[in-house]
Amino acid sequence: MKNYMPTRVLTGFNILQKNKEIIKGMGKRCFIITSGSSGKLSGAVDDLITILEEFGIKYSIFDGIKQNPSVVSCIEAGRLANEFKADFIVGIGGGSALDASKTAAVVANNPKLDEEGIYKQNWDKKPVPLILIGTTAGTGSEVTYVSVMTNKDGIKKSIHNDDLYARYAFGDPNYTKSMPITVRVSTAIDALAHLLESYFNNNANEISRAYSREGVRLLYPKLKLMAENIDLNDESLETVYNASIIGGLAINITGTVFCHTLGYYFTEEYHLPHGIACCIFTDDLLEYEYENNREYTDEFFNSIQIDRKEMMEVIDSLLPDLNFRLSDEEIERIMPRYTNNNSVKNTYGTMTPDDIKKVLNKLK
Ligand SMILES: [Fe+2]
Repeated sequence: MKNYMPTRVLTGFNILQKNKEIIKGMGKRCFIITSGSSGKLSGAVDDLITILEEFGIKYSIFDGIKQNPSVVSCIEAGRLANEFKADFIVGIGGGSALDASKTAAVVANNPKLDEEGIYKQNWDKKPVPLILIGTTAGTGSEVTYVSVMTNKDGIKKSIHNDDLYARYAFGDPNYTKSMPITVRVSTAIDALAHLLESYFNNNANEISRAYSREGVRLLYPKLKLMAENIDLNDESLETVYNASIIGGLAINITGTVFCHTLGYYFTEEYHLPHGIACCIFTDDLLEYEYENNREYTDEFFNSIQIDRKEMMEVIDSLLPDLNFRLSDEEIERIMPRYTNNNSVKNTYGTMTPDDIKKVLNKLK
């Protein structure tokens, strides 16, 4: 049973300050990777700098990571970390900054790596030690061994490698307070997607299913609050953050299913935020499983004491109206992406390309 997770995860309010000795022990030169303003706005960058200065640790900041980061930007960050002779790298931000930091940490010790080498995972030296600090609650990237990047053709493609695990992941719910509400919703439903896609997955095992059940049980009441436009208090913010980490632990074991792989296209082409792009297919997943694997589906919803239909309604209410429709030509054009796709094969049961076509046809 695959269940390997070497990252030490520390969550809670003021968790970074409480564990500043860990930062001290990482070395004398720190390279910080973050995206635009989120690292700064959340307060995480300032908190880290305070600690670095207290211990006399030299630092340099790269804040050029964009959403759905390009491989080029990961290489750039990694080479700059190499030039800076970083002893360790700290990635701060949402999924994009964290995923980019994982690849950058590899490049930092293998500066000649290019895009092809990264996707072929053709590197010799172990990455520079990495710390990840999340500022959104949903991606779970803090604890996964996955880095999703956008390649030179504009296609989102991931690499999976044990070298991508961070040494430490810090999760302070305080840092998630600066998120705009749209980001809060799209990241939280990404966490729900991870938990459900891990459960309804051919790779699911007793451990991953335990994560999924507990994660959904924690997260769902908070999603209902969001659906009712009720602000989340500190306790709820912490719960959402923890549920997102549990989602990361779950998909580390199983991977995701068709919803995520379809979602990538809608992020590339229609710029839907990642969580929204994946969650527009969550209903399809729950419907498919109910039709084809009713006992397994009922067992899940009975065990967490949540009504399946109500959950589908709550998800729908959190999704924006889509301002596009697919044409037959477009569906034909993208179908080859899903004919021999691992995430489609992961879907619990035996999902076929025809099933995928039916799902896409609903968006016509
Ligand atoms: Fe995701």
